[in-house]
Amino acid sequence: KKVVLAYSGGLDTSVILKWLQETYNCEVVTFTADLGQGEELEPARKKAAACGVKDIYIEDVREEFVSDFVFPMFRANAVYEGVYLLGTSIARPLISKRLIEIAEETGADAVAHGATGKGNDQVRFELSCYALNPDIKVIAPWREWDLTSRTKLIDFAEKHQIPIAKDKRGEAPFSVDANLLHTSSEGKEMEDPWVAPGEHVYQRIVSPMAAPDEATEITIEFKKGDAVGINGQKMSPAEILTKLNELGGANGIGRLDLVEGRFVGMKSRGIYETPGGTILLTAHRAIESITLDRGAMHLKDELMPKYAELIYNGFWFSPEREMLQAMIDKSQEHVEGTVRLSLYKGNAIVTGRESAKSLYSLEHVTFEEDSVYDQRDAEGFIKLNALRLKLLNKQR
Ligand code: ARG
Ligand code: SIN
Repeated sequence: KKVVLAYSGGLDTSVILKWLQETYNCEVVTFTADLGQGEELEPARKKAAACGVKDIYIEDVREEFVSDFVFPMFRANAVYEGVYLLGTSIARPLISKRLIEIAEETGADAVAHGATGKGNDQVRFELSCYALNPDIKVIAPWREWDLTSRTKLIDFAEKHQIPIAKDKRGEAPFSVDANLLHTSSEGKEMEDPWVAPGEHVYQRIVSPMAAPDEATEITIEFKKGDAVGINGQKMSPAEILTKLNELGGANGIGRLDLVEGRFVGMKSRGIYETPGGTILLTAHRAIESITLDRGAMHLKDELMPKYAELIYNGFWFSPEREMLQAMIDKSQEHVEGTVRLSLYKGNAIVTGRESAKSLYSLEHVTFEEDSVYDQRDAEGFIKLNALRLKLLNKQR
């Protein structure tokens, strides 16, 4: 009878809004989140109102996004398949959480989203929704309707006078998802993994070749594993990521062209731009390098791929993600201090790190004379470690 739609105001979800009203003859509530995608949201209100929507939710969730989702994930240094910083994956649980809350507030019994039946996003939305409300109904129009291609979708839009955005070259757009952490571009010319993406694909990071010839020096301050300031100035989580995005974007940092394994089975090619996140990951590893014990760090690094896969596959709201999160958060207790970086033509280069909690011991590591470390101890250490290797060699 009533359905809450995750509504961006873009082509796909505008078509879905009309389609839901026509097909299900139900009242549609729209939810539009400002996740830092850098788009005006008021047009979404106008479009929804023009379709007769009474309950229009438009919310700025940037601070919650960064403090409760992005930062916890960055404490783990999470990357999927070695490189993907999970920019889309981490936004889905937050959108789902608000969909469920709004459904409860407005007495809706269903939620709807614009993800296709071929991707990861449907899984993330729906696993999150079911975890938070087991009785909710989910409508995924892409899996139901007969608009089985982008061409048919565009025909439907034209028939219903839904405006179609054009990209810089005046063609129907490829698939883009953006938020404060990243922008992803998929589809069209990018579907051939051999074809290099044109410059027009990149929306927020200049080409490293066009970046300034002078390096930009910055410091990032950390507390309990989270960035809390830049250049000595305290800032909120969303302010920090916004500032790092500016710095990274201007210096050509955070472009990524990859082929990834989707949860539903196929491989897909995407172009990702994660300017601030790329700097943050580098800086976070640098502050951990002096403040985290080796055993703690290595265990955390072993579990990281599992944690990243859980987020990629949509299991943010799962007991196993929460277990890993508790361990990761515990590891960050003393991860504090300052990292200095040089941003230069696509690179975020660490040039210094310091911390009141530093485990770095100059008197132990120095190449000069010391009085705390007896080099003769190393002989027995090596001999016992070599014992099984020697026995093995003799036996074979
Ligand atoms: N392939 C990436 C992921 O699975 C990005 C998905 C982009 N989603 C979108 N609706 N355009 O996280
Ligand atoms: C989609 O299929 O809706 C976008 C891509 C993805 O979810 O992986």
